Parts: sequence; structure tokens; C-alpha cells
Amino acid sequence: MRVAVTGGCGFIGSAVVRHLMEGTSHQVLNVDCMTYAASEETVAAVASDPRYRHVRISINDQPAVEKALAEFQPDAIMHLAAESHVDRSIEGPGAFIQTNIVGTYCLLDVARRYWMGLDGAKKAGFRFLHISTDEVFGHLSPEDPPFTEETAYDPRSPYSASKAASDHLVRAWYHTYGFPAFVTNTTNNYGPWHFPEKLIPLMIINALEGKPLPVYGKGENLRDWLFVEDHARALVRAVEHGRPGETYAIGARQPRSNLEVVRRICALLDELEPDPAGPRERLITFVSDRPGHDFRYEIDPSHAERCLDWEAEHDFETGLRRTVQWYLDNRAWWQRLRRQRYDGRRLGAEA
Ligand code: DAU
Repeated sequence: MRVAVTGGCGFIGSAVVRHLMEGTSHQVLNVDCMTYAASEETVAAVASDPRYRHVRISINDQPAVEKALAEFQPDAIMHLAAESHVDRSIEGPGAFIQTNIVGTYCLLDVARRYWMGLDGAKKAGFRFLHISTDEVFGHLSPEDPPFTEETAYDPRSPYSASKAASDHLVRAWYHTYGFPAFVTNTTNNYGPWHFPEKLIPLMIINALEGKPLPVYGKGENLRDWLFVEDHARALVRAVEHGRPGETYAIGARQPRSNLEVVRRICALLDELEPDPAGPRERLITFVSDRPGHDFRYEIDPSHAERCLDWEAEHDFETGLRRTVQWYLDNRAWWQRLRRQRYDGRRLGAEA
């Protein structure tokens, strides 16, 4: 297959690109305009392969995307380009509306015109996979069953509302135009190359630097943690075998409270690189809660496991150990990000 991946220099997108390059024989076009959260290093291991190409264009730039698709002639598009950080969406929702909603519309519009120009088997086999989040379903209380593909939408942050809107656009293109699109909704990912504004990398790095570990509220909120390489395998199975019009909810069955996560990070760091000043749990600091903080996300992935013949290989303990070791081994990458400023804010360091 010839697969165009949007957002292929981001955290999940780059895991997809690496898996496509290292685990399949597909050709890859990476469409990434390189916002603050994208890094060339994430795909450096595969970038010189003749099966790989990167175009630095925005999904909002329709003429540029149209030209790139016409030249590359994809059999599938995997759409991962998005603004993804909830706290940033609270501080400034505009970029989320522009990229996640308008950008998805722009891409759908161009992709549909490209698809309509295809013939025969190429047209019949074309797929558009939209990668989304479980946050569109709102949040769960402790006694609720996990989210499934049937759960009603109830987004509660500017980020999740923008992703919900993009999911609706994709489904509208399927129902209205017969465009062969489908959607995945996934729980929290973690692993190598995770941008250090998010909980797990922020805590690892702050702990290594002896800085406070800012836990929102009481740390009781629950997330279902999926190792990013397991997610990338699921997405590639989906683009190869998924059915237009379908939804696949992808999760790991590994729910943990934030406090459990942070304590486990401290324990792993204490084991792998002891701090002469003492156990890192001393750095845990409870700070004011995120406005509208969703209490719990968890997915029942049974449908995706069955239909895609996939399951997560990493439990949380195995995946977190690999992740902590990766951050110990790749300091140059996150230290550079740490020194940089973006949008006038110092990266996750003030806490
Ligand atoms: O569920 C999937 C979603 O997971 C994705 O759609 C989002 O793009 C992704 O960012 C993630 O959203 P969360 O808000 O759950 O992730 P985040 O890493 O920002 O926060 C995880 C939990 O940790 C959440 O309950 C808030 C809390 N937290 C986060 C930060 C950054 C803290 O307690 N302290 C922090 O400093």
C-alpha cells in the first residue's frame, strides 16, 4: 500500500510511521507541518529509506495537500495531525478549532476529490482512517462500564469538543458522499517520544531534574494507559483490514489513577537511577485541579480486538519500564525541548 500519514512527526503519528516502515513493506508519505510538538528525530531511523518521504505542509493548505496526494497516489490516508493537549486547549482553544475541525474539513474535502478521480480497484480499495480519542465520550464515574463504540458523545473540553466535531465530519463524509472513511477512538497513549507537556513524560523529566511533580487535585483521576507501539500496530491493522463506516475503540485494559502512575514512575527512577537526595516521591506536589477535569476514561476494546485481530502486548508495568528507560537513554532530545520556549511559555517546567 501507499499510505499518507498526517502528523507523522508527532508522538502517535511517528510511531505509526516507524511501524509502517519497519513492520510492513508499505510506502509512506508523511504530511507534517512541524508544529511545536513535532520532531524530525522521531522518524530519523527511517527517513533515508526510499520508501519514505516527508512533505512539510499543513492540512489546512488545500492546494499543497492536493498536489502532494496527486504526486504520491495514496491507497490510504491515516489522519493523525491534531492539537492534542487538553491544558493548552483551555488556555487557547483557537488552534484546536483551526487544526482539528477546519483542518480535518480541508483534508476531507481534498481527499474526497482525489478519491473521486480514482478508477476501478484503486477507488474501491481506498481508505481514510481518522484517528480520534476516547475523550469525545465525556467521562465515567467509578461504577460506569467502560466506553464502547456505542457510547454517546459528550465532550467536555475545547480539545475533546474539537475532536468530536472532526469525528462527526468524517462520518458525514461517509454517509453523504460514500467516502470510505472510518474512525478509531483511543485511550491515553504513552511511550518513547511523548512530548513533555503530558503527564508521564513531564513527571519522568521533572523527577530527573529534582523538580516538583504537579499532581492535579488529589490524583484520583483514572486513565487507561496504552503503550504507543501497541496503538500503532492497531492503527495499521485498521487501515489494512478496517471497514468503511466502522468505529474501533482501542484501549489497553490498564486503568491507573494519576497518583499510582506518578508513584510508579518515582519507584522506577529510584531503581534505575537513584537520587542521592532520597526517594523521588518527596517531589509529589498536589496543585489546583484542571478546570472541568474528566474523572475517568476507560475503553472496552473487545470489538477492535475481534475485528482487527489485535491486542495490546504491553501491560502498564512493562510499558512504563520501557518508557522510563527510554527517557534515561534519550536525554539530548528532551533536554533540547526543555531549553526551548514555544508560544512564550516555558515547557512544563514552572510547576
Ligand atoms: O484519552 C486520550 C487523551 O489522552 C488524548 O486524546 C489526549 O490528546 C491526551 O493528551 C490525553 O489526555 P489527558 O488529559 O488524559 O492527558 P494528560 O497527560 O494531559 O493528563 C493525564 C492525567 O494527568 C489527567 O488526569 C490530568 C493529569 N495531570 C496532567 C498533567 C500534565 C496532572 O495531574 N498533572 C499534570 O501536570
